[in-house]
Amino acid sequence: MVNVEEFVKKAIEEIKREVGDGKAIIALSGGVDSSVCAVLAYKAIGDRLIPVFVDTGLMREGEPERVKEVFGHMNLVFIDARDEFFKALKGVTDPEEKRKIVGELFVRIFEKVAEEKGAEYLIQGTIYPDIIESQGGIKSHHNVGGFPTKYKFKKVIEPLRELYKDEVREIARYLGLPEEISERMPFPGPGLAVRVVGEVTPEKVEIVRKATKIVEEELKDVPKWQAFAALIGKATGVKGDVRVYGYIIAVRAVESRDGMTADPLRLDYEKLRRIALRITNEIPEVVRVVYDVTPKPPATIEYE
Ligand code: XMP
Repeated sequence: MVNVEEFVKKAIEEIKREVGDGKAIIALSGGVDSSVCAVLAYKAIGDRLIPVFVDTGLMREGEPERVKEVFGHMNLVFIDARDEFFKALKGVTDPEEKRKIVGELFVRIFEKVAEEKGAEYLIQGTIYPDIIESQGGIKSHHNVGGFPTKYKFKKVIEPLRELYKDEVREIARYLGLPEEISERMPFPGPGLAVRVVGEVTPEKVEIVRKATKIVEEELKDVPKWQAFAALIGKATGVKGDVRVYGYIIAVRAVESRDGMTADPLRLDYEKLRRIALRITNEIPEVVRVVYDVTPKPPATIEYE
């Protein structure tokens, strides 16, 4: 385990040294990695840090608002790009294509801000497992080693590149970040787009968002790596004596150290029943709820 105090001191020094009297930009996601980076960078260079939050419309409930609350005192640039993302994803069903579209649009929006603000340095919350998975070609993490951008940053700074997730959380606690950030579950870069199997629409994303909130509420006190909902297709159901063709929600809850392998939680059956009941009662479009018992490998944690 890393020596937290020493790490923080060194990271701040590194950012100060690298950025000098220049300006640095960082993309905030609301997650623990980018949040820790932003706090370290703010301590190092203050208002010469430009944190950017792009609301893709693919975030979990309340996330954009929380980012505003926590980072509002910095030079935060907040961009509402929801319509743009949904437009770009319309009709696309291939998982890697979806990831690519979200990644590229994000980069384009981010580049524009970097250019407008004249930022010379890019700070990123890349952690060690991101680098490993990216090298193994397991999944295209669009954030490793800098954005595939035409914008010429002088340098990409990745202060967390040698840390595992649990170590980043320790740093977050030490830095006094709120618990909802330091203990926040990992959330994929392409957001809820990879938790909707097939075409992404605002309606489906809204359904997954509501189901995710229910899963998180019900499993709040259960130790886990991640717990979430995914919309995996359609099926027949009966609601109010009428046969309806509605959505299938899969509940995924896993333990893991670093996301590279994962085991499904052996959840209490009554808990599962309650989750299924709540989701089908509170979200009229959902007719069926299933629990995913597949470890990683062979499944991944996310659905796409
Ligand atoms: P998979 O689905 O590959 O996910 O088993 C492993 C862990 O990584 C997260 N994940 C991502 N994180 N950008 C990220 O920053 C991404 O594109 C991405 N895709 C998956 C996932 O939530 C899990 O914790």
